[in-house]
Amino acid sequence: MTTATAQACANIALVKYWGKRDRALNLPAQGSLSLTLDALRTTTTVRFDESISADSFTLDGEEASTSRLGPWLDIVRERAGISQFAHVESRNDFPTSSGLASSASAYAALAVAATEAAGLSLNRSELSELARRGSGSAARSLFAGFAIWHRGEREDGKDSIAEELVAGTDWPLRMVIAIVGGGKKKSISSRDAMGHCAATSPLYAAWLASVPPDLQAAREAIANRDLAALGAVTQGSAMAMHAAALASRPPVRYWQPATLRCLDIVEALQAAGISAYPTMDAGPHVKVLTSAEDSEAVAAALTELDEVDQVIVSKAGPGARRMPDAQLSDGQSSDGQ
Ligand code: PMV
Repeated sequence: MTTATAQACANIALVKYWGKRDRALNLPAQGSLSLTLDALRTTTTVRFDESISADSFTLDGEEASTSRLGPWLDIVRERAGISQFAHVESRNDFPTSSGLASSASAYAALAVAATEAAGLSLNRSELSELARRGSGSAARSLFAGFAIWHRGEREDGKDSIAEELVAGTDWPLRMVIAIVGGGKKKSISSRDAMGHCAATSPLYAAWLASVPPDLQAAREAIANRDLAALGAVTQGSAMAMHAAALASRPPVRYWQPATLRCLDIVEALQAAGISAYPTMDAGPHVKVLTSAEDSEAVAAALTELDEVDQVIVSKAGPGARRMPDAQLSDGQSSDGQ
């Protein structure tokens, strides 16, 4: 049993995941497709320790709840045939409190670090499946660049895993992220919102029906390196997802006035011939898919808005991977226990 450290990048869905076919196993009602982002990284160290009587979790130097992490670690323990609790220490190099999707990078890094620390040797598909159990979108963060997460058909979820389409390193795209909302926590988690939307939104069925053709169009656009086509799908999928959420009863609305201000800017950029295609997740932030060439103009325009707290520009990032072991904050050396 050793300590293991891993790093993973967050990903932003271009064709969204919104709705589950199995809540316990985190199986999606449809597939989804994402871009892994270099600028948003989580680094996590896991150490199983027979001398402790509960899991401990430190996030960005502060003690954090293990209510979600503990049951997920149980899956790893069961698979490895061990019973020790774990020290988990995690750092995000982007603002966690902003509500930017951090669970994807978190569970992808955890999947690599926890399995290695537990002495398991899993392949990428198995790691993707395990990460999915923590957070659906984490299944995609195992992979570099463009990843597709398959809906799968099996009830046990073994075929609901992600795979890499292309790393995208030959295609100079950027994602410009405008963080808005002053760091307020999101009102309703994506998990709860999806369930509520599926149960009450008259647009949910239409949303689900929109996904397979969008996935097909996105795959073709990526194969052809066609940003305009990929951007149109990206924008359309986000709007369809939010339309279904907005039509829930009572509504789920993640957008704030600042979100719309950003969307106005993106529309003006589009009208000026700049490649800029917005997408939003379970929060108020606006992420804009653009070319490397146009990314400065997009970032500059968004930075000018008073309502924008921070702008991050990212290229495509690598898949989750093991890193040299970090020093755990309790001072104990982390090399092999
Ligand atoms: O992985 P979760 O449970 O945080 O859900 C992610 C949901 C969206 O970010 C809105 C869409 C997506 O595909 O990432």
